[in-house]
Amino acid sequence: MKYLVIRGQNRLEGTLPIHGAKNSVLPILAATLLTGESALHNCPRLSDVDAACGILGHLGSQVRREGACILVRPGNTGDCCIPEEMMRRMRSSIVFLGAIVGRWGRARISLPGGCELGPRPIDLHLAALEKLGVQIREDHGYLDCRAPEGLRGTVIPLPFPSVGATENVVIAACTARGETVVKNAAREPEIDDLAAYLNGCGARIRTAPNGDIHIQGVPALHGGEHRVIADRIAAATYLSCTAAAGGDVTVTGVCSEHLSAVLPCFEEMGCRLWVTPDSVRLQTQGRLRPVRSVRTLPYPGFPTDAQSPLMAAACLADGTSMFVENIFESRYKQVPELRRMGADVEVEGRVALVHGVSRLHGAAVRCTDLRGGAAIAAAALAAEGETTLAQIEHIDRGYEALEENLRRIGADARREEAP
Ligand code: EPZ
Repeated sequence: MKYLVIRGQNRLEGTLPIHGAKNSVLPILAATLLTGESALHNCPRLSDVDAACGILGHLGSQVRREGACILVRPGNTGDCCIPEEMMRRMRSSIVFLGAIVGRWGRARISLPGGCELGPRPIDLHLAALEKLGVQIREDHGYLDCRAPEGLRGTVIPLPFPSVGATENVVIAACTARGETVVKNAAREPEIDDLAAYLNGCGARIRTAPNGDIHIQGVPALHGGEHRVIADRIAAATYLSCTAAAGGDVTVTGVCSEHLSAVLPCFEEMGCRLWVTPDSVRLQTQGRLRPVRSVRTLPYPGFPTDAQSPLMAAACLADGTSMFVENIFESRYKQVPELRRMGADVEVEGRVALVHGVSRLHGAAVRCTDLRGGAAIAAAALAAEGETTLAQIEHIDRGYEALEENLRRIGADARREEAP
């Protein structure tokens, strides 16, 4: 079993370049099933990225990593099925569905399991793809998808601006006949990054001023070269670590505009910020103040993925902070582990009240999910004594070399393997 050992209360100082965005590279890797030979730069070393590359290999693509670059050459095993163990390894594998159907006119995928955040329904994905002409039927836990007459463009109003559903439609619509308009589309920066890659491969995607995404189908796409945007959630996480532990850290290579809903929270908590278009410097000034209310929303609102890291900092504030999680059903799994470290947090449904305490203490704790695990690591950086954090495979899904990055800014953090 792998775990992190963190001895808290080191002041964090220095500069940290931010790795490429997990939630950008995953849909782009799926989209390579529809394009030609591609080179993707700034790809983070993450287990979710490895899982996506494994799916591409299973489907016949040749995938090779050279440092932070992933080279993909599409192939064809004739298999358009993603087996259950692959689907279960990465919940967001559903984003491959649109690409597989767009490429082969059929797909067979196992129903994705739930995950730590609660049930992860895919009804919006399926309803949208059916509007494009995909016939879907459930078959013993698998989804059998066929488009006997190919995909045809249409207007697709999403009941909720689902990131994954938007990505699935954008990818599938690229080579559909006619124009597709996605209404109430997600507006996360990762969607723009996916569109930029696809347009570089000959797609015709544009976002209207009202946020609707228009995709004019083209006969085929060619290969392309693309640099993945930086991971705004990783940046928010390292800033939260600095706020929690105290210090002066600059994250670089990240588009500060993508953090526009997060940075005001740090200012409200009493941190001093210096912001440039591609960097953010955060300096704490004494004990944090509470943040009155953090309500997670689709972009450009406060990102749900940054909720738990920020909560870790709020645990040490001089007062009560309120969090309202509007995106996922159960995204407070980190709270019992934070309580083991001395945090005082009340959870009632979607609302969490964080009553700040003057100190946290190290403990034996475990990761509950990706961002919850990062939150517990942030709390451990502020805690007195040593924390052992188990089940860090959750963290390895979305943070490249977390402990190395933390050491780089002065933390006492190391990875250990238990027999
Ligand atoms: C993406 O997940 C991200 N994952 C998530 O990041 C992120 O939290 C989420 O978007 C919101 O920003 C990737 O990009 C790989 P949604 P996704 O579809 O696409 C419900 C992380 O930590 N819903 O926007 O699954 C759903 O249950 C991960 O990096 C349906 O009801 O998010 C959730 O409550 C976690 N039916 C809400 O919508 C559907 O068909 C938002 O989901 C699809 C979603």
